[in-house]
Amino acid sequence: MALIEWSESLSVNVTTFDNEHKKLIDMINDLNDAMREGKSNHVMGDIISRLLDYTRMHFRAEEQLFSKYGYPDAELHKKEHEELVKKVVDIQERFNSGQIALSIEIMNFLRDWLRNHIKKSDKAYGSFFNEIGVT
Ligand SMILES: [Fe+2]
Ligand SMILES: [Fe+2]
Repeated sequence: MALIEWSESLSVNVTTFDNEHKKLIDMINDLNDAMREGKSNHVMGDIISRLLDYTRMHFRAEEQLFSKYGYPDAELHKKEHEELVKKVVDIQERFNSGQIALSIEIMNFLRDWLRNHIKKSDKAYGSFFNEIGVT
């Protein structure tokens, strides 16, 4: 069973970003499967690094749209993105140096890391963009 399932409750009503969130969910689910199936550290490390790259790309895309349309909460949202990236970089460094192994706790952390940000902060920009006709 997937660790996270995308559902309408996670929709931010901006199609591109819903699609990018689905991709992030897929990557976290892939990492969870790799852990459960006992895949090598190399395989898991590779998924973590792709998750981080895609996260950075996605955050930049959101921030570019904030600038383009003058989203009022952009600064706060950007800070949150920075904190979120730092947390995964920290996991990546500890994983790559062998200090930690992936665990259910870390996977649950990543699940909440993504889900809470979408539900609280990303959904807030959804209504702003929808009001100005961006969907
Ligand atoms: Fe997002
Ligand atoms: Fe965001």
